[in-house]
Amino acid sequence: MTTRSITDRLGGLAFGGDYNPEQWDEPVWKEDDELMRRARVNLATLGVFSWALLEPEEARYDFAWLDAHIDRLHANGVAVDLATPTASPPPWFTLAHPDALVVRPDGTRLVHGSRDTYCLAAPAYRSAARRIASALAERYGDHPALAMWHVHNEYGTLCWCDHTAAAFRVWLRARHGSLDALNEAWGTAFWSQRYTSWEQVLPPRATQWHKNPGQALDFHRFWSDEIIAAYREQRDAIRAHSDRPVTTNLMLPAYQNIDLWAFARELDVVTCDQYPSAPGLAAAADVAFHADRARSLGGGRPWLLMEQGTNTVYDGDRVLAKDPGDILRHTLGHIARGSEGAIFFQWRQSRAGAETWHSAMVPHAGPDSRIFREVTQTGEVVARLGELAGSTVSASVAVLHDPDAWWALGVDGLPSPELDYHTALARAHRPLWDAGVTVDFAHPEHEVSRYPLVVAPALFLLSDRAAENLRRYVADGGTLLVQHASGYADGRLHARLGGYPAAPLREALGIRVEEYRPLRQDERITLSDGSHGAVWSESLRTEGAETLATYTHGMLTGSPAFTRHHYGTGQGWYLSTRLDDTDYAALVGRLLKEAGVEPDVPGLPAGVEAVTRHAPDGRRWQVLLNHTPEAVPLPDPAHDLLTDALAHELPPGGCAVLRGH
Ligand code: GLA
Repeated sequence: MTTRSITDRLGGLAFGGDYNPEQWDEPVWKEDDELMRRARVNLATLGVFSWALLEPEEARYDFAWLDAHIDRLHANGVAVDLATPTASPPPWFTLAHPDALVVRPDGTRLVHGSRDTYCLAAPAYRSAARRIASALAERYGDHPALAMWHVHNEYGTLCWCDHTAAAFRVWLRARHGSLDALNEAWGTAFWSQRYTSWEQVLPPRATQWHKNPGQALDFHRFWSDEIIAAYREQRDAIRAHSDRPVTTNLMLPAYQNIDLWAFARELDVVTCDQYPSAPGLAAAADVAFHADRARSLGGGRPWLLMEQGTNTVYDGDRVLAKDPGDILRHTLGHIARGSEGAIFFQWRQSRAGAETWHSAMVPHAGPDSRIFREVTQTGEVVARLGELAGSTVSASVAVLHDPDAWWALGVDGLPSPELDYHTALARAHRPLWDAGVTVDFAHPEHEVSRYPLVVAPALFLLSDRAAENLRRYVADGGTLLVQHASGYADGRLHARLGGYPAAPLREALGIRVEEYRPLRQDERITLSDGSHGAVWSESLRTEGAETLATYTHGMLTGSPAFTRHHYGTGQGWYLSTRLDDTDYAALVGRLLKEAGVEPDVPGLPAGVEAVTRHAPDGRRWQVLLNHTPEAVPLPDPAHDLLTDALAHELPPGGCAVLRGH
């Protein structure tokens, strides 16, 4: 019987980091023990990239060094999240099995010397991965230090080799049943692409011009299933020897090679990694965006932040620093939204190797440093929050998220390069976050009737089931906002004929989109209500909806741009362009009002983030984060777990966790 709660074993929320002691020696390990106690670390992730040490040659294992570290951590009161090292096969493996190396779409076969250089579809890799997972589980499955299993690291590597081609064909046969059905699904009647034998079908490798979109979409679906199957094999090998929860760290939000809804169903606890892509307030918004997605993947169950950086913001290929205080604010930002603690990558900053300059809990400067002081302060705070363990968060707005729609916007031949799914998803979340409203993400085929408001950005691909689900949602009283370029294609990426969006949804929106008219890069348009749009415009006519704003330019002058339809007992809103941030925020504010959605904690000024965690027995905690440089008086003073005293105000940049509200 699997123990699904990690916090039971830890006696509170988790705090710690990826721990790679094999980079160091005895004196440093001794200092690690002392510093982990100071920082109140109670969980360390071991072994993520340790394959070469654990199995120095095929099927010969060396566990002595790992035994010593696990026992040392255990003696020091630190539990272990033990990883399988399969994200980084050692050089001996690739030399013995060169066919298991990644091949790029252009045919380049990569070599070892980095990490993640394996093809998941290669039989030699899969059996080596099962073997080491099983050997680890056999040895450590019931070790008293073991809190959980961490399979692999950030699954998501793709490959286009011959093993992949063979596995893809097996998957396609199962999905389509016959070559005729595949030809029909992929629209191969055009451009002379018709397949007459399965051997002719390839992964979408480098081509002269546009790749077939159906093939590209199916390839993503195939890889997602392949990744989940590879995870399941390791998980099941572990479960044969261990009753501890098994998970893998998912990488959010921009790493979309997996159907995360499907993957999350396989995990005993959802765990995710998060690195913001802009500093300052944008980083805090990114934390919330990430955390809301992570929680939603597990259907609201408690989850765990498995990696964050103490001082790492990825701005393209530049790594920016976080602001002072962000270590605590980002940690609490995740905990506020349901995380059962916070783990960092990594404990001690490497002195050599590929990630020497990646931030860590103990920086190169050592413990006498701002970073370690903030880490220690954060560890002390997390240690005071044990009573939050197992409590959950409730949201009143859902933003729809569909991996198929994401992949659909990645195929060749679309009318605009600016239909970017990830940006659209984050843009939908941001004004809701600014308004203090807690957001769940939901798949468009999920039951969403409990949310008074549902926002649907960028659902370019919309399955028949999803279209009917959303129609019913509006008919039964929901308020739905559908945004431009949605419902243009069905689940096979075939265009919807007779007008967009998909017919049953169109009924709820009371409109019919007849023509899409993408805008030039940097072109801005003005609507009749004074709001501004960019990227996209549409020629649409109302079929029952009222027009709230019209276009004021070119051939679209006077035609509807933004509409609302009373349908059944609900309302279907349609926005046919991408509004500027402030105009979009105003629209979201209007929808919140119409749908009767209040902020999670009313009465707080802009820039103060607040989320309530609820325990099943009725206890509640408000987690408050002040992102402003001003002190903010609290409308309702209460006992703050951080200071163990009554809190009347939040200091500038400060946080509080108020009990009983
Ligand atoms: C990922 C990985 C870690 C580390 C960090 C660096 O999240 O899982 O091993 O490389 O990125 O940000």
